[in-house]
Amino acid sequence: MSITVVVPTFNEGPNIAELVRRLEEALVGRGAEVLFVDDSRDDTPAEIERVAASSALPVRMIHRETPTGGLSGAVVEGLGSVTTEWAVVMDGDLQHPPELVPSLVATGEKLGAEVVVASRYLKGGDANGLDGRWRRLVSTASSLLARSMFPKRLRNVTDPMTGFFAVRPDALELDALRPRGFKILLEILTRNTVVVAEEPFVFGERFAGESKASFVNGLRYVEQLASLRFGRMSRFAIIGAFGAVANLAIMWVLVHPFQLGYVWAAVVAAAVTITTNFVLQERFVFRDLRNEGRSLWNRAAHSFAFNGAEAALRLPFLIWIVEATGAPAVLVQAVTLVVAFLLRFVFHSQVVYRPRRTTPVGPVPDLPAVVGRDTTA
Ligand code: GDD
Ligand code: MN
Repeated sequence: MSITVVVPTFNEGPNIAELVRRLEEALVGRGAEVLFVDDSRDDTPAEIERVAASSALPVRMIHRETPTGGLSGAVVEGLGSVTTEWAVVMDGDLQHPPELVPSLVATGEKLGAEVVVASRYLKGGDANGLDGRWRRLVSTASSLLARSMFPKRLRNVTDPMTGFFAVRPDALELDALRPRGFKILLEILTRNTVVVAEEPFVFGERFAGESKASFVNGLRYVEQLASLRFGRMSRFAIIGAFGAVANLAIMWVLVHPFQLGYVWAAVVAAAVTITTNFVLQERFVFRDLRNEGRSLWNRAAHSFAFNGAEAALRLPFLIWIVEATGAPAVLVQAVTLVVAFLLRFVFHSQVVYRPRRTTPVGPVPDLPAVVGRDTTA
């Protein structure tokens, strides 16, 4: 097996020697090489050259004077110059354990996969190295959303946001990618058709320096989703909007020409639109997933239960928030509607229509014992 380890770097000087040392231990004698794609504005390139001179592994560097596409652009540029059968993309700060590189490639070979994702969210994996509760929450929410937008392409992927994965560059069409921001794996998996497998890993602490993630990167993610046309969410939103208009029309007809009380009118309108929305989403949003998981009656039961509960809870929830915070009711209602829409979408994509995995999960790494927790008590 021949592997190129592709490492994007931006001002990572103090991490280079340790990274290359651990890669050497994991890979020497296996026909591997290391390729740094460097956008640094400091002395990192000099450090890479210094470490390369005494390394037992061949170390190459592409230094970009005018970087484009940030971290993702660097990875794509690196992949474009890989000549080995496999590439493994990993961060340069040792949050990704170098010891796992051969294992990812072995899993790919064994399962006949073209991409092997190192996942923090599989059993045996861990995302705690992500600093701060907030970063972890954002990471979990953004991967749930991405998986909901692309339930079929990401059916075997629990961690589409990871920066650690093995790939056969030959299986990719690099020109089809529009790299930007940090989420290069998502870009690869949504614009290419590849066989994907996964393996758990423990996302560690940074060895030195600090994260380069920023709020701007979050905006790039939204921009990336827009350029991917939000996958299935767009169609789901159109049907939802249609349902909202139908709901109002039904209510108007019942209250005015038919003189029905508005509460009953609202209940009837909700029941009718929940049913028509279900039929429309079966046909136009999740048609291809109807035979991939639950049966029709099971889907209908889950969908009706969620939508019924949502319709029933939204009003008390609105009252509760407005009373508790004193925020303007219309604003709270707007936020409530957006959140309810997102929850409804994620629930339908990830529960009602969730497709089964088609590739198995690779081996679980040996985890260090958990310190400070007594499990015998
Ligand atoms: N060439 C290049 N250009 N490299 C970059 C750039 C850039 O503009 N920005 C960051 N990098 C490099 C860093 O030097 C590091 O080696 C790697 O990309 C990851 O950057 P970090 O700053 O350490 O990112 P993080 O730890 O916050 O985020 C990581 O985890 C996320 C999962 O939540 C990354 O792996 C992300 O890709 C991943 O999504
Ligand atoms: Mn990092």
